Amino acid sequence: MSEPTFAVDYDHPDAAQTSCSTARAWAKQPREPSAAEKPALIEHIKRMLIEQNAVLVAHYYVHPDLQDLAEATGGIVSDSLDMANFGHQHPAKTVVVAGVRFMGETAKILNPEKRVLMPDLDANCSLDLGCPSDEFNAFCDAHPDHTVVVYANTSAAVKARADWMVTSSIALPIVKHLKEQGKKILWAPDRHLGNYIQQQTGAEMLMWQGACIVHDEFKTDELKALKALHPHAKVLVHPESPAAVIALADVVGSTTQIIKASQTLSNQEFIVATDNGILHKMRTLSPYKKFIEAPTAGSGANCKSCAHCPWMAMNGLLNLAQVLESGTNEIHVDAEIGKRAVLPIQRMLDFAKQIKLPTRGIGNA
Ligand code: 13P
Ligand code: SF4
Repeated sequence: MSEPTFAVDYDHPDAAQTSCSTARAWAKQPREPSAAEKPALIEHIKRMLIEQNAVLVAHYYVHPDLQDLAEATGGIVSDSLDMANFGHQHPAKTVVVAGVRFMGETAKILNPEKRVLMPDLDANCSLDLGCPSDEFNAFCDAHPDHTVVVYANTSAAVKARADWMVTSSIALPIVKHLKEQGKKILWAPDRHLGNYIQQQTGAEMLMWQGACIVHDEFKTDELKALKALHPHAKVLVHPESPAAVIALADVVGSTTQIIKASQTLSNQEFIVATDNGILHKMRTLSPYKKFIEAPTAGSGANCKSCAHCPWMAMNGLLNLAQVLESGTNEIHVDAEIGKRAVLPIQRMLDFAKQIKLPTRGIGNA
């Protein structure tokens, strides 16, 4: 495996504060194939997926070409929970994850017997990078009476220490359930999602102070001004956004949940506060509706932010073809860590089934 081009010095005091501009400078973006190159490249990838008994599982934030290809080849484009579920249930021997590293690791942990490949193994996440397992273990050791709930956007080693893993689509019912059982919660790593869940459930929660560099950039005053310009628009917000932005939302939810809202609400205009990769699916499902990106680069922004995750952008058609050709970029998870990490993930999947949370499992895509 090549040396990672993005590495965080965990001893550095600002490791958890990795800025958007720093990440953008370090995350290497793949070359965009020309319009003339694309059709043959796509056919080549389709053939290789069949030959290698492989399925493509993509997130809504990756390039539209990858989202379309996943759906056209019997794979899925969805949120973190559905991606985990789908890769787990699908019979393919190889799962190719177009997303970020924690998504590939989750697929591997759930399917240790399968080969899991990613277009770029350095595609990471500021939440994962900002929660190193040694510091997290020390935090847990200091609070042994707490139930440990971690967000999916964490390393396998952090998951291995958790009682529960959650994604944004299921965090609320799981924490509500734990609160009803009288549990005190240690939450990591996203402080905004954690605060939102705490506010909604009233649960007692100790919070790790991580943040997503993309959602952290949404700006309240500029969003208010945009709402005034579009008084009929509904505001759709991912809960990794700051509390003041969430307070302006009409709908708060995971990527899948806000896409569903954009489809089912009768409004014709929407302001969307999440990675702009999601607009591809929203526009495909509702071609006559208008979708507007929530503002990021207002006064106080620490870079010319663009509401697009620099690590998600590391996935492209060319590096996808390359990993299928070469078999490189395979995800490996230490077997002992995997055995422990699977427990909180499986607990979440079982809970989702129990409460009949709508997911796009095999057969109901
Ligand atoms: P979802 O599970 O809502 O797709 O969120 C994943 C993520 O990384 C959002 O930034
Ligand atoms: Fe992580 Fe934010 Fe990128 Fe999602 S958008 S993968 S939370 S850095």
